[in-house]
Amino acid sequence: PFEVVLARSGTSVTVGPERSVLDAVRDAGAPILSSCEQGLCGTCETGVLEGTPDHRDSLLDDDERQRGDCMFICVSRSCGDRLVLDL
Ligand code: FES
Repeated sequence: PFEVVLARSGTSVTVGPERSVLDAVRDAGAPILSSCEQGLCGTCETGVLEGTPDHRDSLLDDDERQRGDCMFICVSRSCGDRLVLDL
């Protein structure tokens, strides 16, 4: 599990292995649009303020992956214990 912090509200949620970041932040009250939920369409793109995303989408190129300043939260997860998202 890892912690996801929603920067604008200061809310944090724990994301366990059975849950996507998308579902977790929705449960925490953030209104996120999504469509494919497979890392293909780009609808759920979310800014990353702190932490290192574990990218599992099919959209970002190598440079964007390395930069780590945005992620697709329907599929991507966290490399570390904590991610702070621009939500
Ligand atoms: Fe399509 Fe996340 S909902 S990439």
